[in-house]
Amino acid sequence: MSQQSDQIKALIDKRDQARLGGGQAGIDKQHQKGKYTARERIAMLLDEGSFEEFDMFVTHRCTNFGMEKKTYLGDGVVTGYGTVNGRLVYVFAQDFTVAGGSLSETMSKKICKVLDKAMLVGAPVIGINDSGGARIQEGVNALAGYGEIFERNILASGVIPQISAMFGPCAGGAVYSPALTDFNIMCRNISYMFLTGPSVVKSVTGEDVNEETLGGTDVHASKSGVCHFAVDSEEEGIATIRELLGYLPQNNMEEPPYVHTDDPIDRNEDFLNQILPDNPNKPYDMYGVIGAIVDDGKFLEVHKDYAKNIIIGFARFGGSAVGIIANQPQIMAGVLDINASRKAARFVRFCDAFNIPLVTLVDVPGFLPGTQQEYGGIILNGAKLLYAYGEATVPKITVTLRKAYGGAYIVMSSKHLRGDINYAWPSTEIAVMGPAGAVNILYKKELKAAENPEALRTEKEDEYRKMFADPYYAAKYGYIDDVIEPRNTRFRIIRALEQLSTKKISSPAKKHDNLPM
Ligand code: HXC
Repeated sequence: MSQQSDQIKALIDKRDQARLGGGQAGIDKQHQKGKYTARERIAMLLDEGSFEEFDMFVTHRCTNFGMEKKTYLGDGVVTGYGTVNGRLVYVFAQDFTVAGGSLSETMSKKICKVLDKAMLVGAPVIGINDSGGARIQEGVNALAGYGEIFERNILASGVIPQISAMFGPCAGGAVYSPALTDFNIMCRNISYMFLTGPSVVKSVTGEDVNEETLGGTDVHASKSGVCHFAVDSEEEGIATIRELLGYLPQNNMEEPPYVHTDDPIDRNEDFLNQILPDNPNKPYDMYGVIGAIVDDGKFLEVHKDYAKNIIIGFARFGGSAVGIIANQPQIMAGVLDINASRKAARFVRFCDAFNIPLVTLVDVPGFLPGTQQEYGGIILNGAKLLYAYGEATVPKITVTLRKAYGGAYIVMSSKHLRGDINYAWPSTEIAVMGPAGAVNILYKKELKAAENPEALRTEKEDEYRKMFADPYYAAKYGYIDDVIEPRNTRFRIIRALEQLSTKKISSPAKKHDNLPM
């Protein structure tokens, strides 16, 4: 064999060795836990044969605690780029078979390289996390490594989409990289995230918790809101990432991809003319409305199990991607509370950052009253949603289906927050508050003095309802652009989106805003 052939053979051997990560025993252990390896995950995520790897031959430089005897090619993370449905993405996947995927200085450098390249060319980054956190033997070098990643996550925020999947542990300060990214995917039974583990919790607070109850998938999907998509398998998680990418532009200077649809733009849905119960206090299912009006009934819901009183997610109208925000009358009458406000605010900001128009479906009785909400900061959290809508410059289309009361009327993409097109169904009621509350305040003295206060109350509530229980009072002032037949909603939204496709608007120049926190 020639010298060159020897060199090529050595390269192939080295590659094979790198592909084994921490070794076959580690790979087997990973499989026994029902988990895929980093390389298997990347292969599932990317289009077949599209992966190009970086830094396969990187090894760590730590010599503490005998680490010089434990070096592996690639050092605990697989990085590179490839395509998803033909579109460029950058990817890193932590390799648990190497020191539990713990983050070393060199691993951080590999991840930072991928983030830098993604920023350079303007393409999304997907990070697959499966790690025991900072590599303990490396001390401050491991912490510095996290810091370098965080800084890049921050600079990339709003420039390129960043998606994190947790397919294993994500503990300690390591949780802050996913927290800084746009979407987090967690998989039941294999993912958990927490700042401090169960034993630290026990020693500090005395609480008895396990990994699942402290930071499992359902905890973060329904209680903390850290998890945007909760899935039952890694396959489902990967499929969700691929689907999600389909709605997103490559970066903040591009438009989201158009996807041809055979769903007629003028498809009427007659049942929408009967969907509302006669009693305005009775609920109906907002999912029924969303499913009826979007292309092919397809809706990718975000935060499905968190703050269910508001629904958010991606869909298409006439082939164009939009973000949908809709109150859900079936849960707490669709009221806005702290969690619903936070959930919707972040989504509105994401869509605005990435040129995704907003379609808002309103049926909201107001903000949730009470000490729990006030002490928890409903003022600041409600202001987040108000701020998000007010600052958004993407096309904003609002359809009010039924109620729009009080501050919630203003917040939910009203005309006053630079709403572009505001439609209302004939069933719309817009007022400062509901009839009972208003009559209590306006006729306090009269009700006290009345011989028959209940009769007076009924009379005054009817009078109030007559004044505000239709959209024409608001339409008279131009706050509603048109009152539309519910069955035409899809067509009217698509026409509005077409009209607004060249929208240009700017806000005052500033270093950055000061979003209420
Ligand atoms: C170095 C680590 C490690 C770490 C795991 N390993 N975590 N090595 N630094 N942080 C190594 C183990 O020594 C072991 O090596 C291999 O990875 C597999 O770990 P096991 O414990 O055998 O696996 P398992 O039983 O599945 O448990 C996984 C685990 C556990 C739950 C993640 O390893 C664990 O609790 N690790 C520590 C988690 C943690 O507290 N991290 C620090 C968080 S603080 P061998 O050689 O035996 O195969 C933090 C600060 C970051 O991260 C701050 C950023 C701002």
